[in-house]
Amino acid sequence: MTEAPLLLDIRNLRKSFVHGDKTIEVLNNLNLEVAQGEMCAVVGASGAGKSTFLNVVGTLDAPTSGTILFGGEDITRFSAKKLAAFRNRTIGFVFQFHYLLPEFTALENVMMPGLIQGVGSRELEASARAVLDEVGLSHRVTHKPGELSGGEQQRVALARALVLRPSLLLADEPTGNLDHVTAQGIHELFFEMNRRYNTTMLLVTHNPSLAERMPRMLRLDGGAVHDSRSADLTPDTSDTSDSPDSPDSPDSP
Ligand SMILES: Nc1ncnc2c1ncn2[C@@H]1O[C@H](COP(=O)(O)OP(=O)(O)O)[C@@H](O)[C@H]1O
Ligand SMILES: [Mg+2]
Repeated sequence: MTEAPLLLDIRNLRKSFVHGDKTIEVLNNLNLEVAQGEMCAVVGASGAGKSTFLNVVGTLDAPTSGTILFGGEDITRFSAKKLAAFRNRTIGFVFQFHYLLPEFTALENVMMPGLIQGVGSRELEASARAVLDEVGLSHRVTHKPGELSGGEQQRVALARALVLRPSLLLADEPTGNLDHVTAQGIHELFFEMNRRYNTTMLLVTHNPSLAERMPRMLRLDGGAVHDSRSADLTPDTSDTSDSPDSPDSPDSP
């Protein structure tokens, strides 16, 4: 990971939550460098702080202390307004649940980040159609989320995350709610988007086969990240949804 320029340089990152009379230290002096174009799996036990880490890197939540240099700029010093524009333009998010707006079509959902950004509607519609085509949904653009299968909904969410061609894609158990075959199809899309656009990715997963395929695996443990290859990827009991027998498998044959 040395030739490509750094996208992320995270230094002494801490995040704690005050809960009642207790302080929970979730991220504790976390240091990490990620080069542009790197694909990293983020693994770790339930409660290790994976979602907290993604939220802080994604600027959805502020760190307690520490710096996050993004392309050399310390984004922890940005004003709320600057941060919102930066986040919308530069970072794509995919969560376990798609959070699509139910009253809008797939196309309109994918156009949403661009509308917020003020991208011209003709250009935006063309980008949205192109990215929906890339995720294999050009035949579903006028469908609303309720008229799509679980896998298709997640493809729309991925298209929405990618429509502005973010330099960083953050995904938090993006296929945790899908059956094995459907999940596999989405995983292929992550690799394809990385190849095509050199999108840097941090992808939280409990899926051992996906984590093994990722060029880099980061293990969150004790509030810090460790580069890891021999990870114990035993899924949480609370998160069995990466298993082939997921109850919610609208796409399964
Ligand atoms: N808003 C919050 N307030 C208090 N505690 C929190 C909050 N968010 C997360 N936590 C705690 O931080 C720890 C890490 O949570 P999380 O990042 O969701 O873990 P993971 O995604 O690895 O399962 C957990 O112990 C959780 O209870
Ligand atoms: Mg989590």
